Amino acid sequence: MKNLKLWEEYTRESLHLSILLTGGIGYIGSHAAASLIEAGYDVVLFDNLSNSDASVHNRLEKITNKKISFVEGDIRDFELISKTLNQYKIEAVMHFAGLKAVGESVQNPLRYYDNNVGGSMSLIRAMQENNIKKIVFSSSATVYGVPQYLPIDESHPLSAINPYGRTKIYIEEILADLAISDPDWKIMSLRYFNPIGAHDSGLIGESPKAVPNNLMPYIIKVAKGELAKVNVYGDDYQTPDGTGVRDYIHVMDLVEGHMAALLFLNNHSGFHAINLGTGNGYSVKEIIDTFSKVTHTKVPYEIVGRRDGDVAISYASVDHAKKLLGWQAKRDLKEMCLSAWKVMSSSK
Ligand code: NAD
Ligand code: UFG
Repeated sequence: MKNLKLWEEYTRESLHLSILLTGGIGYIGSHAAASLIEAGYDVVLFDNLSNSDASVHNRLEKITNKKISFVEGDIRDFELISKTLNQYKIEAVMHFAGLKAVGESVQNPLRYYDNNVGGSMSLIRAMQENNIKKIVFSSSATVYGVPQYLPIDESHPLSAINPYGRTKIYIEEILADLAISDPDWKIMSLRYFNPIGAHDSGLIGESPKAVPNNLMPYIIKVAKGELAKVNVYGDDYQTPDGTGVRDYIHVMDLVEGHMAALLFLNNHSGFHAINLGTGNGYSVKEIIDTFSKVTHTKVPYEIVGRRDGDVAISYASVDHAKKLLGWQAKRDLKEMCLSAWKVMSSSK
């Protein structure tokens, strides 16, 4: 269910503001596009399709019943990004573009530093040159590394344990320095916990190109019979059932958090970092059981060894988001599972 009060405000404030969504064809960017357009924003998608499919553009036009501008390109292409910002008279940027596979970042760190940090530098320089100084950045709970206490609040020390996580910390630091150097910048870094689920239309969702690393898309492949079983990475953690606990958040709640962040930046300059989660933790077994129950599917699983780099428990303190953004997640685990299943059960 939508947060209706916030939606009234989003719609009132959108005023055909022109927003660039880097990575706008990807999982979270495409869901953000659907909501922003529904609220009345003018949206331009910018994506190099390295981890997404151009068909998402058509599906977004179907969902919104609008023509949507899409520029195929790489954020490291300074000339193109600068031209796009200028041509579409962009007023704010939501920066989703990035590579996000933890294991791959360990194998190929330079690719991650080049794409994520280099790409962000190119984007921010182009924004500065075009005098566009409002940005919402996709950060991650991975910046906290191994939790020293729970729930994790925004003052928790930052210490990523892999190159992917370090790219997020470096980008945050670059943005924070920029805000100090020039008080006109309005910067929000949103630290996502575990986004899952999909748009109500069933037309867009999370569809990774390779075999999924993440739990929910993997469960779906097993439920569809495309993979034999879920490998549960360890049942000997200090958690109620021994399996890993995470803070799963519905992607539509997450995008509403972005819209609240955009409103916040209307009246606040400087650099801000806020967690986006629900504040609740669910174990791997609870996710498999709930998914199986609400979708009436069988999800066989097997307990295997722990995955390198996994932490036992991670969940967010959501007080800061409530206080600063007036936002909190509304959708429950059942909705997350059902919406993810609706889109993925019908796709190949
Ligand atoms: P995604 O891979 O589905 O979307 C990212 C999009 O960016 C893709 O469409 C890809 O083609 C595009 N892209 C990548 N590099 C690009 C470049 N150099 N130029 C232009 N486009 C480029 O991933 P997502 O799940 O939608 O994640 C969006 C952002 O949120 C990422 O920055 C990710 O690190 C962050 N994040 C995601 C999660 C998660 O669990 N999904 C959690 C925390 C943070
Ligand atoms: N898990 C399994 N089997 C699988 C996949 C995952 O048991 O096949 C378990 C993991 O061990 C973990 C939980 O399911 O306990 C969630 O794992 P995910 O891979 O779905 O998510 P992570 O918490 O490991 O990481 C995700 C993103 C990161 C991001 C992080 C925090 O992949 O990019 O959330 O936001 F940094």
